[in-house]
Amino acid sequence: MANEDKFKKVIGHAKEYGFIFASSEIYDGLSAVYDYAQNGVELKNNIRDYWWRSMVYMHQNIVGIDAAILMHPTTWKASGHVDAFNDPLIDNKDSKKRYRADVLIEDYCEKLNKKAQKEIAKAKKRFGDSFDEKQFVETNPRVVKYKAQQKQILERMAKSLDADDLADVKTLIEELGIADPETGSKNWTDVKQFNLMFGTKLGASADSATDLYLRPETAQGIFVNFLNVQKTGRMKIPFGIAQTGKAFRNEIVARQFIFRMREFEQMEMQFFVRPGEEMKWYEYWKETRLNWHLSLGLGKENYRFHDHEKLAHYANAAADIEFNFPFGFKELEGIHSRTDFDLKAHEEFSGKKLQFFDPELNKNYVPYVVETSIGLDRMFLAVFSNSLKEETLEDGSSRVVLKLPAILAPVKAAVLPLVKKDGLPEIAQSIIDDLKYDYNVQYDEKDAVGRRYRRQDAVGTPFCITVDHQTKEDQTVTIRYRDTMKQERIAISEIGKVLYNELSFKKWLK
Ligand code: GAP
Repeated sequence: MANEDKFKKVIGHAKEYGFIFASSEIYDGLSAVYDYAQNGVELKNNIRDYWWRSMVYMHQNIVGIDAAILMHPTTWKASGHVDAFNDPLIDNKDSKKRYRADVLIEDYCEKLNKKAQKEIAKAKKRFGDSFDEKQFVETNPRVVKYKAQQKQILERMAKSLDADDLADVKTLIEELGIADPETGSKNWTDVKQFNLMFGTKLGASADSATDLYLRPETAQGIFVNFLNVQKTGRMKIPFGIAQTGKAFRNEIVARQFIFRMREFEQMEMQFFVRPGEEMKWYEYWKETRLNWHLSLGLGKENYRFHDHEKLAHYANAAADIEFNFPFGFKELEGIHSRTDFDLKAHEEFSGKKLQFFDPELNKNYVPYVVETSIGLDRMFLAVFSNSLKEETLEDGSSRVVLKLPAILAPVKAAVLPLVKKDGLPEIAQSIIDDLKYDYNVQYDEKDAVGRRYRRQDAVGTPFCITVDHQTKEDQTVTIRYRDTMKQERIAISEIGKVLYNELSFKKWLK
């Protein structure tokens, strides 16, 4: 399936099967704002829970908090967001479309990367087992040229953006011959900076109201609580504070469904370390976070690291974990070494000390911070799009199945009486009454059982439990596995055990 078709199918499936709706759809929706529907909210909650358990329950030195969305406005002055949370925007004079100038340049570089990958794939095919990819990448003139061009362009862009030389960013776009991706026009305006924070007001009267911002990241709620948590939790360095919650950005170009939204949710963890030890922890968290992703089984080949050329104003090292979305590899999660920038800035602006007394070193210091930051909605899109499959079956028919990791599935099991009579619904209901304390389970008696299986396949239910006439005789049911469609006869008393073996956090997170 072509990528564009695949992405359309993902969006269509998300709506048709109750995962995601456009916000306020009856009023034609609101650009880049979405609502999670009955199945979507379960999947989203399960992803959040999977992240929280892996961070907070699996690490004795990480605790969680839930800070408010609204914060004192000086927070955003200290964090640098008022002055520096900008995106460089550029308009096309003919199409009137607005773009992020840096994204146009990065997309150009991705094309160069694709050309290099094509050369590598061709050579791999030609040389077979004897192919030495590393040597080829280092010596093949075309690959070397593409890589060098890419590096040079990204370095120049980073330098110009750092120096706020927006005229050079425009010159670069013109020199590279970058055209409006939708219309092909090269008639560009100058590049301008645009602050992404949403403003709001606190207070009833226009005169006395205070200007506030909706938080553009959850991280600052952690920094301002650093000392509260450290003291009340008697935390010793190294330790982490985790948080999940809404963030808001007035994105210039918000498209690609829930990939880039104006209201979204983040799952962030700030890990406080001794100054000088941050690189060790940066490497640790890069590896740990990649392993978390791999534990879900979406395929190792769908992830890659991208080390940043242009660092955010607070970072001394940064990498993204990129995922192979239907529209190509894009950022899913960021791992940043944020130095002591945030805590020092909050010390300066608040006049309060935000330091740790290290008994081993017998001194006070402002800790350094390594951050892991992932968008919950982006993770949803990664899992959802990767899991959606269209399969042709042995008998020539086809099925649409959402092969979600079972631990994340909205409904864990559907219990289906073969017919709506003869006492079978009552038995099905009693199975539900037993399972519902541990799992989200669903009862379905409508239509032929084959159609019911397909409905559950489409929402990703890993197990269907069918109650038939034999159940009345020997207390057994049929359990059908979503991915293999294999069916087994098991005792009713065994159902809980089978589900636990497949759905325990221990199995997935270990
Ligand atoms: N505290 C660091 C921080 O916010 P970021 O790279 O700007 O860093 C972190 O954002 C993650 O949040 C991204 O990797 C992405 O998954 C998610 N994210 C950022 N902007 C988003 C948006 N507009 N819509 C959805 N997710 C977004």
